[in-house]
Parts: sequence; C-alpha cells; structure tokens
Amino acid sequence: MKKVIMDVDTGIDDALAIMYGLESDALEFLGITTVDGNVPLDMVNRNTLKVLSMLGREDVPVFSGAAGPLMKPSRHVHHIHGEDGLGGALIDYPYENMCEAQFAPDFIVEAARHHPGEVTLIAVGPLTNVALAFKQEPLLGELLKEVVIMGGIVSRAGQGNSGPNSEFNIFTDAEAARIVIHGGANVTLVGLDVTKQAVLTARDIETLKGSKYYDFIKQSTEIYRTFSMDKFGLDGCALHDPLAVGFALNRGFLRTEHHYVDVDTVSPLNYGQTVCDFGGLWGEEPNVNVSLEVDSARFVEDFLNVMKNASGK
Ligand code: BDR
Ligand code: CA
Repeated sequence: MKKVIMDVDTGIDDALAIMYGLESDALEFLGITTVDGNVPLDMVNRNTLKVLSMLGREDVPVFSGAAGPLMKPSRHVHHIHGEDGLGGALIDYPYENMCEAQFAPDFIVEAARHHPGEVTLIAVGPLTNVALAFKQEPLLGELLKEVVIMGGIVSRAGQGNSGPNSEFNIFTDAEAARIVIHGGANVTLVGLDVTKQAVLTARDIETLKGSKYYDFIKQSTEIYRTFSMDKFGLDGCALHDPLAVGFALNRGFLRTEHHYVDVDTVSPLNYGQTVCDFGGLWGEEPNVNVSLEVDSARFVEDFLNVMKNASGK
C-alpha cells in the first residue's frame, strides 16, 4: 500500500479528504499533520481528532504543526467552513484521542528519512509545515516519493478564490509555497483549474442516504455548498482536497503537464499566484506537474462509492 502523510487545515473538504483516503483502504496513513489555515490551529487539531474518532481511526497519529504562516498573519475563513470549521456537524462529538508531542515538520522529516523514496505527502492546507520540513532537511525532495498539493490555479485567469489569480492555500502562505515547489520534489499541483469542476451536488449527497456518513456529509457541507453556489455559481461544493487524495489513489482522474512554475510573493495584484511558464519562455527546467483536466464524473463516482461502502472501523 502507498504510504502517505496528509497535511491538513481541517476544514470541511479536508475532513472529506481524510475520510476518502482512510475509507478507500488503499493508502497506509503514517500520520496526519495539521496547520493553521481555514480555522485556527487549535480548532484544526480538534476537528482532525474528531473526524478520526468518528471514523474509528484513533490509531492514526496526529502531529500539530505551524500556528501561522511563515511571514504573514493568519487568515481564517469561517464564513466558508463555519464557526467550528466543520459546518457545525461535530460540535459536541466526543473524542479522546490527542495530538502527539512531536512537531509536525519534524515528523515529516523523520518519516521521509525512515522510508526513503516511499512517502507520498498530500498537502491540502497552506504549505507552512511542508516548507519548514524542507528547510530542516534540504534533501527532503529526494527522500519523498512525491508531494501532491491542493493549491494554485495556472490556466484560468481571473478565476481564483483569494485574489483573481490566487488560490487560498498558496495565497495564505505564498513564501512557504515557493520554498516547497523549488525544493526538488516530484510535485503535483491539483489546483482550482480542476477542483472547481469536481463538484458534490445535493443530489449526490442524497445517494448516500442510509450510509454511515450521510448525516455528517449532508450537515457539514451545507454552509459550504451555499457559499459555493452564491459566490462561484457552482451546483454544490467543490471537492478541492478530496481530489488531491483522488490523484494519489488513481492517476487517471487527472491529466497533468510538466512545466516550470513559480509563486508570486511580491506583486500587489497577484500575490500568491502560481505562475506557470507553459511556453518555456524563462528557459527553466520544469519543476511541477500541473493539473489541467479532470474526469470529474469518474472521480465523484469513486468518492461516492467509497463513502457508500464505508463501514467505519
Ligand atoms: C482550499 O482552501 C481551503 O478553504 C480548502 O480546504 C482547500 O484546501 C481551496 O482553495
Ligand atoms: Ca484545506
């Protein structure tokens, strides 16, 4: 089984991504690392522990990480994910699991050294922890098998979600993102180009009726679906973070191209933009697989099947 670490800022779609990854039974989770992002770090930790408790997967270790971006103040988005970060779905959910004592970036480095060439890091929050890990171990890019990042937008000008050309995870800590994509790893960006097409509709959710996580998925996504419909005209909510897990599970869900990408950390207009040199104008070696097309029907079907068949442990 593919060994994975997920770096999360749980968040509604982060929760769905954790559920999809664990319930797929196709990934071996070495651990989950948490980072400040959608909501404050303490809340991210609580949400992550609660989701694991709901899944009956308290055996998965959780490592708490960076409490804010490298150089900028935190930027939380409760208006998308709710006051509690999970659309109110697990507010009183009991849990007894706790975070490990080890700092998240230290765990990433240790796990990569312990399993050289084997670990897939799926990062679905701001890249602060991952950048700190790269700073600590300059060879991390070679030690990791690959880094799959939900982040950025490369081919759809003006359709970002944090600035016209910027996506939340990159925009929140652009300096960190820049360190990571230049870190020499096999990096894939699963950006808004594809994730905005991977939409979970109210009708999809109704097909889960009678299954274990129907109530959670319905309730947690309600505020998120309303926001996505009002703000982006989607027919539901985008499965941003689950699509990054989907790519780790099945390469066929995405079509990628290998290009040179840099992150804008200086422009007042495009701070946090993932600038992709499609034409090779800068003459730089390609460093990122950028996702340009998604088979959303097959991906959403797989996501729903995994959720339908989920039994919890
Ligand atoms: C990303 O931003 C967060 O709000 C989501 O969890 C996802 O990781 C989408 O831009
Ligand atoms: Ca996220």
